[in-house]
Amino acid sequence: MTVDPRELLALAEQMAREAGRLIVDERPRDLGVATTKTSVTDIVTEMDQRAEQLLVDRITTARPDDGILGEEGAARVGTSGVTWVVDPIDGTVNYLYELPSYAVSVAARVGDDVVAGAVVNPVSGEVWTALRGEGAWLDGRRLVLGEPPELAMALVATGFGYDPRRRAAQAAVLQVVLPQVRDVRRAGAASLDLCALATGRVDGYYEQGLKPWDLAAGGLVAAEAGAVVTGLHGRPAGEALVVAARPPLVGALVAVLEGLVADADPLA
Ligand code: IPD
Repeated sequence: MTVDPRELLALAEQMAREAGRLIVDERPRDLGVATTKTSVTDIVTEMDQRAEQLLVDRITTARPDDGILGEEGAARVGTSGVTWVVDPIDGTVNYLYELPSYAVSVAARVGDDVVAGAVVNPVSGEVWTALRGEGAWLDGRRLVLGEPPELAMALVATGFGYDPRRRAAQAAVLQVVLPQVRDVRRAGAASLDLCALATGRVDGYYEQGLKPWDLAAGGLVAAEAGAVVTGLHGRPAGEALVVAARPPLVGALVAVLEGLVADADPLA
C-alpha cells in the first residue's frame, strides 16, 4: 500500500490541534497527578490520558491498520507500515504548573523514518509542521535556519530527565558546557526546544534520555529547517543523546559532548 506523507501530515496536524484544544479547554480546576512513572516527579495527569485517548481514537478511526506508540502507554503494532508516535502533553510538569510551555506532539513514521510531524503549543497557538524532504513550517511559514553563531555565542537549549542519577550526570555535563556558550535555556518540553531551534529562538539543543515521542515530530521539524539532529560518534539521535544545531555549530557541540562522554548511560 502506498502512503502519502501529506495525508499523514494533515491528519497529524488536525488531531494535534484537537488534542491541544482539549487539554486547554477541559483542564479541571483541581488538576492533580493521576499516576507516576519512572520516578515520583515523572507525572501523568488525567489530561495526558484523555489527550492520548483522543489521539488513539482519531488514528484508529482514520487509519485502522496503522501502529501506535504513545507516551502514556498506547502501543499497537500495525500492518500498514505506518506507526504514529505521539506525546499527548510534552512538558507535563509545565502543564501542571500552568507554565505556558507544553505541546502536543504527533509524528508518523514509515519503517524507521519519521516522514511527517506536527507540534502544537495550544497556549501560544503556534503550530509547527514538517514533511521529510519537503521542509518545515511555523503556522505555514517556511523555516530555514541561517548561519549559526560560534559556540561561545550560541544560546543552547537542554533538558533533564526524571531519574536522579540521570540528572546528576546531566548536571556534570552542564557544568562544563555552560561556561563555553552564550547561555543555556531549560524550557521544559523537548519538542518545543527542537521547534525553537528550527525557528531560530535558540541556536542549539542537546539532551540525554529522550524517548521516541519526545523526539519524533520536533526532530523532523529541526532537521527540515536545516539542523543536523544526531548522536555522538556518528550514531543517530536517540535516547543516549540528541544533539541538534545547524553546521558548523553542531560539530562544535558534538566535540564538547564527546569529550564529556555525554552519551554514557548513568542508569546502567
Ligand atoms: C519531558 C520534557 C522535558 C524533557 C524530558 C521529557 P514529558 O517530557 O520533554 O523537557 O527534559 O526529558 O521527558 O514527560 O513532559 O512528556
